[in-house]
Amino acid sequence: MTAETTASVAEWREALREHLGSDLVLTERDQMVAYCRDWHGDVTTDAVAVLRPRSTEQVAAAVKLCRNLGLAIVPQGGNTGLVLGAIPDAGQGQVVLSLERMNRIRQIDADDFSAVVEAGCILSELKDAIADKGMFFPLALGAQGTCRIGGNVSTNAGGINVLRYGMTRELIFGLEVVLPDGSIFDGLSTLRKDNRGIDLKQLFIGAEGTLGIITAISVKLTPYPDQVATALLGLASLDDAIKLFRRARRDCCDLMSAFEFMPPLAFTLAKEAMPDLPIPIAADYPAYVLMEISGSGLVDIDDLMGRFLEAVMEEGIVLDGTIAASQTQARNLWLIREGMNEGQAKRGMHLRTDVSVKLSQLAAFVADAEKAVEDAVPGVVCVSYGHVGDGNVHLNVLPAAHATPDERVEQIYKAKGAINAVLDEYQGSISAEHGIGRLKRGDFEVRLSPVRRQLLTAIKHAIDPDLVMNPGCQLNFSVNS
Ligand code: FAD
Ligand code: LAC
Ligand code: ZN
Repeated sequence: MTAETTASVAEWREALREHLGSDLVLTERDQMVAYCRDWHGDVTTDAVAVLRPRSTEQVAAAVKLCRNLGLAIVPQGGNTGLVLGAIPDAGQGQVVLSLERMNRIRQIDADDFSAVVEAGCILSELKDAIADKGMFFPLALGAQGTCRIGGNVSTNAGGINVLRYGMTRELIFGLEVVLPDGSIFDGLSTLRKDNRGIDLKQLFIGAEGTLGIITAISVKLTPYPDQVATALLGLASLDDAIKLFRRARRDCCDLMSAFEFMPPLAFTLAKEAMPDLPIPIAADYPAYVLMEISGSGLVDIDDLMGRFLEAVMEEGIVLDGTIAASQTQARNLWLIREGMNEGQAKRGMHLRTDVSVKLSQLAAFVADAEKAVEDAVPGVVCVSYGHVGDGNVHLNVLPAAHATPDERVEQIYKAKGAINAVLDEYQGSISAEHGIGRLKRGDFEVRLSPVRRQLLTAIKHAIDPDLVMNPGCQLNFSVNS
């Protein structure tokens, strides 16, 4: 930073403290660092300040002030995003606005199957409070103990229950949003059906904080699924896993709530993160599926799972399997899936992808893309897993253990290029669920059609003409573009 900008930073900080009060404003480096570092610790940046408002009115006041001072705002929830959307670019006149103190549940209406919650509520805390009322909020992901519902809405998060309940977008009735001029859009209706013109909330879902700050959300609830059957299955291939998925959709009466694919390496990675984790199946099948069927009321879920597995094992689609006999066993099966992420994180900087293709092409895509990576970067390890029922696979690439940081960066770059080239042939998406953030901006930009770019630019300029909100995230806009 130059002497001039250092002076500006001091003035900015003083103005923020003066107008918002010291309680809302962090400026010490050691206090701010956790808000300026991504979940994996791959990237650490800096901010002019971190603002931590307690109410929608305080968010609005902070936005108006930042706009007057010429400061840009990076909204942040739980900072578990995987694409660098929630941390600022270093030294660019940006503040982080954390929603962590706005974590109240405003109301739960079991009779209306709805709840209204502030954006900073941690997802698992929301789910627990709703479960206490016999209700269920179906969004479920490995980061749910840390991510916040405003972040989930802003990334349109996916997770493990999408195949039954849809992405976050489908779980939302309404939003309250502080717009870039500090005005408050009150769209917090809990009406199940409402066709009064263009559905404005859709603009903010998946916008990754580029159009405004979501301060509260009204969410859709379902009855709590008090019957859950969870099975870990061994199969001969990803192809067979997809066959099994199609069969389960037909045979399980739309009650299948999760269907996750894992390679045998899953067990090694999970054990690296959690050495005591039990693995209740032989670890040498080429492919594994973690499957869940759930429901409430008069159905018999255990019977359904039992009969389904009996049939598919008899037909040889499933080679081996174990059904959880208790909630603890079911939880341990899910810990294998969650431990995969932690195990990869422990192996150091690596490539994480989040791609989707048509379900009917998924097995061929994974084979082609893994081959392309092995040809382009010999010696790396491909880990393909995830929400295959949604056509969504995390085809991650782990550099060799002895690779230096520079070698890792190069290998990640080459592997990403190889995967994206195959993905383009399959007309797939570079982001099935994590979003674009800053990490995928370049890959997003080169694939944008002129008309789509024009529409995105028009929306950005209509809502945020001064480019206050999360600059550099998703696309680089300029005032005149
Ligand atoms: P943050 O990381 O804080 O922010 C994400 C983006 O939203 C940023 O651009 C930020 O500026 C913006 N934002 C945050 N809050 C607001 C707000 N109130 N108003 C406006 N903009 C806002 N994702 C999936 O989709 N599926 C998964 O299965 C999944 N599993 C994961 C597992 C692990 C272990 C980890 C670490 C991450 C996983 N993720 C997954 C990614 C991440 O958890 C999700 O993207 C999550 O929705 C982010 O929520 P957050 O509160 O942490 O948001
Ligand atoms: C998962 C995250 C990485 O599915 O999206 O584990
Ligand atoms: Zn995922």
